Formats: sequence, structure tokens, C-alpha cells
Amino acid sequence: MTEILDGKLLSFKIRENIKKDVEVLKNRGISPCLAVIVVGYNKASLKYVSFKEKACKELGIESMIFKLPENTEEINLIKLIEELNNNQRINGILIQLPLPSHLDQNAILEKISPFKDVDGFTPYCLGRLLTDNPLFIPCTPKGVLKMFDEYKIALEGKHAVVVGRSIIVGKPLSLLLLRKNATVSICHSRTRNLTEITKKADILCVAIGKERFISADMIKEGAVVIDIGINVTDTGRVVGDIDFDEVKKKASYITPVPGGVGPMTIAMLMENTVIAAKLQKELSG
Ligand code: GUN
Repeated sequence: MTEILDGKLLSFKIRENIKKDVEVLKNRGISPCLAVIVVGYNKASLKYVSFKEKACKELGIESMIFKLPENTEEINLIKLIEELNNNQRINGILIQLPLPSHLDQNAILEKISPFKDVDGFTPYCLGRLLTDNPLFIPCTPKGVLKMFDEYKIALEGKHAVVVGRSIIVGKPLSLLLLRKNATVSICHSRTRNLTEITKKADILCVAIGKERFISADMIKEGAVVIDIGINVTDTGRVVGDIDFDEVKKKASYITPVPGGVGPMTIAMLMENTVIAAKLQKELSG
């Protein structure tokens, strides 16, 4: 029997706990606040930012949304980041990716204070993860690990194959799986004989951004399959990177899209914002 990993339900449970945590913090005079910056008019980005704003509201977390025009100059974006770094009311700073192509993503991300880096994308936070001493863990990979925990899916000694090598998902997820003693292979768009590798996966995590890219003949019978893709079809349907209906027949566990990893990402962002609020309280004494 294939079990569906229900990220919607799990994220709801997590959000209920965060809500309580926020209430306790507020009673101690700490009001968590997240700043979100989005540059340009990418429809998907604006939609994700609205989901993040809504989640904050539901959990009692304050949010400040900065919508900047497509032609924003790097110097002005950096100025805003520096203001937010110095603003004591703000605990977390998130820059929605991707940025327009004239902006240097690395030069911008590294300006975020690591102690407010709730996405975990600064070189400092990624370095802390690499050196087995994480500060903020990127939200999507953190959400995937929570699902393994919740459903008691053992990782130790398993062959985990990650398809995708972004800093948002593929690279940090690979490190987290390694920290759980999985044997990790990282594949990407230039990998030769991809099927040979994916067929050996006990755990297959896919974040490549191509509609129904993984078919049933690419997986091993009984594999755990995690779909981290969000694609919109020509007819407006949201689908993942995995051919869910066919792969489901072979997998032991599988995440749906929507309702799988997506809601977990937002729940983890809320969790990281609360962690940031507590951290800053400690830092300010
Ligand atoms: N774009 C797609 N996913 C993410 C994410 O988790 N964080 C940010 N900042 N941008 C994204």
C-alpha cells in the first residue's frame, strides 16, 4: 500500500503549535515580525509572497511586504536590506527569488544579517549547515526532513537521490540527508543516465522544475518519492515534477502536488521567524 505524505495536514498541526508559541512570546513582550522583499512582477513570486503574508496574519506574526519595481537598482535594494538589518522591530528578512537578471543574487543575499536570514540562503547560514552547526535551515529542505520525521521514514544507510542542485532546495537538502547518514547522490539537468541513478534510489527527492519529469519507469519499486516541483500546466493545473498517478503505483510513500511539500515550506518559514525573534531577544540581552 502506498502512503500519501500529507503536507497540508502536517503543516496545519505545526502552524497550530507556532500560533501558541507566538502568543506566549507576545505575552513576554516579543512580537515576531517578518520583512519580505519582492522585486518585479513575476506572477508566481507575487503569489508565494501573498501566501507568506496570509500565513503570518493567521499565526499572529507581523509582516512587512516591500514590493519593488522590476528596474530597482542594486544599490537601492542593498540600502533597504541594511535598513531592515538595523531595524530592531524586524526579526526575519526574506528576499523572494528569483531576482530580475540585472541584479546579482549573491551580492544581495550576502547583505542580509545572518541572524535575520530566515531563508538560510546567506553564505554564513549555508556555511553553518555545511559545517554541521546549522543556524537557519532553508525552509523547503527543512520541511522535507520534518515529513520524514513525522512518518518515521528512516534515512540512515539509505540511498537518497536528489534531482536538482539549487541553493533553495537541492544543495541544502543533500546536506541534511547526509547529516541523517543517508548515502546521497546529487543529479541535475546535465546528469547522464539519470534513470540508472534514480532507479537505485530508496529515497528520491525531485526539484528540477519540469512538469511530470519523473515517470514510473525511473523509480524503484517501494521507493519513497518526494516531489518538490510546482508547475502550472497550459490548462492552469498545478502539478509537480513527478507523474503522480503512475509513480504512486510503485512508491511506498509519495507526496502530492499540491498539498505535499509546498505547505511545509511556509510552515517552516513561520517556524524560522519565531526562532529569529527568540534569537534576537537573546542577542539583545
Ligand atoms: N523562490 C522559490 N522558493 C523560494 C524560497 O523558499 N525562498 C525564497 N526567498 N524564494 C523562493
